[in-house]
Amino acid sequence: MQPRGAVVAIATLTFFLSACGRHDNSLDKNATSMAPIAVAAAAAPSPSSTPSPTPSPTPSPIAQAALARLNAPAVPLSAVAELGKKIFHDASLSASGKLSCASCHNPNNAHAPANDLAVQLGGLSMQHQGGRAVPSLRYHDHAPAFSIGPDTKPDEDDKMAAKLAADAKTTIAPVAPIVAKATLQPAVATQEVVPQGGFDWDGRAVNLTDQAGGPLLDPNEMANKSSVTLLAKLKVASYAGDMKLLFGPGVFTSPSLALGEAYFALALYQKEDRSFHPYDSKYDYYLAEKVQLSEQEMRGLKLFKDPKKGNCATCHIEKPSRDGRLPPAFTDYQFEALAAPRNKGIRANSDPKYFDLGLCGPRRTDMSKQVNYCGYFKTPSLRNVATRQVFFHNGAFHSLDDVVHFYVERETNPEKWYSHGKDGTINKYDDLPEIYHGNADVTDAPFDSKPGTSPVLTDDEIKDVVAFLKTLNDGYRPDGVKTASK
Ligand code: HEC
Ligand code: HEC
Repeated sequence: MQPRGAVVAIATLTFFLSACGRHDNSLDKNATSMAPIAVAAAAAPSPSSTPSPTPSPTPSPIAQAALARLNAPAVPLSAVAELGKKIFHDASLSASGKLSCASCHNPNNAHAPANDLAVQLGGLSMQHQGGRAVPSLRYHDHAPAFSIGPDTKPDEDDKMAAKLAADAKTTIAPVAPIVAKATLQPAVATQEVVPQGGFDWDGRAVNLTDQAGGPLLDPNEMANKSSVTLLAKLKVASYAGDMKLLFGPGVFTSPSLALGEAYFALALYQKEDRSFHPYDSKYDYYLAEKVQLSEQEMRGLKLFKDPKKGNCATCHIEKPSRDGRLPPAFTDYQFEALAAPRNKGIRANSDPKYFDLGLCGPRRTDMSKQVNYCGYFKTPSLRNVATRQVFFHNGAFHSLDDVVHFYVERETNPEKWYSHGKDGTINKYDDLPEIYHGNADVTDAPFDSKPGTSPVLTDDEIKDVVAFLKTLNDGYRPDGVKTASK
């Protein structure tokens, strides 16, 4: 494993990284080198006693695991998750009476908005703008809690993969707050350590239970004034009886008790309900060796993985773990400063002094002094990304074509992406204060391109990458029959 970027051995335990390098995982071809094999329904594996001139059709462990996910029988929700489902769809919990979790996290659009607003409207009057693009709620089933720890990848590290695959609790159970670097052993500190995991673009919610309170109390979202207001609403909700049955008749005696259980139910619903992690995209059928990717999609996958081309897989991991049990989430859960252009459509940005700096604030408050992480945002999963109409934490982009052009042109043609001063100068990295420009990732390809060189992907190659990204939409059926989980 060879870190690509700034590897710094440190003797002290202070924060130190300016830009985190990623592992060049595309060089290891073992896990994905299998050729796309179209297994026709009739072509059952031949008995091993019959020698065959063609390679053995026995599915690889990866294919078997992918197929097992596709064929897994539906499991009914627990009573608490059923309650969570009701809360998730309950607009009466918002100050406006118009917003439920499902309004922004639309189950018919991969649990993200179907509209093209960079940020959604909410609050009492439904006129308040949220600060960030709404992420999909899908594929958080193996997301680790927030930490700053060694730079290991789930697809390369069997121990970590086993932990993530087995650990159903990290995403819901309350856990101790951040493992700060100060608590790291020196042995670990000499390795590269990186921020990773957690929920929201800045990882400030440690787990899903912790996260659920955010939108309910956020003045720009569901806008409850306090936990007491929210308690009053839960008391008269249609499922108040369910809450008493499940958690005891005293559940409404204190806001912390009732809200804690409601948040837990919301987390459990997201954890248990298959619609949040169906693993039934064309790519999953491809991993299961049930379908071939088209020539264009295959070209796109190759460019996606190629460290000299897209290099996307370095951060958006496309490989399952070696035993296939941990499916690819198309994220390594790490944080990075990609220096997305400033989005003037966000009202808060009309104040030239306002910057959303992700990990170091202002939404997140516990890391405001870690200035080497200013501008860092979480790498999102790319599953279902083609169902979105806005991209990046600030919704600065409206098409995948633009996103991929930005990746390859940020350094070669910054004038295309950033605002210009009156004298025509380019305000490169215009959504990062100048003192933090050094945080922008310039070590991971394609961001290591030099000015004056050509972008590493041509327009046609970008089309191929986008075609590949479309294979990550849920609800694919090899027979062409569309299903509800699209
Ligand atoms: C007004 C729109 C809106 C509503 C309503 C809303 N959310 Fe969100 N949700 C967002 C935004 C915006 C973010 C990103 C916030 C951030 O990064 O600061 C988000 C983030 C999340 C995340 C973290 C996802 C990730 O990628 O880390 C979860 C989980 C979540 N919301 C669950 C919920 C639940 C549960 C509810 C209902 C109680 C809810 N949301 C209601 C807009 C909304
Ligand atoms: C160095 C790590 C890294 C590499 C390499 C990388 N990404 Fe990303 N990607 C990120 C991070 C971090 C974000 C979120 C950035 C933000 O919101 O400011 C992101 C966001 C995205 C998004 C927007 C998703 C959404 O829900 O808004 C898309 C699409 C995407 N990446 C595709 C790609 C493609 C295609 C490539 C290869 C050309 C690639 N990425 C290479 C880390 C990376």
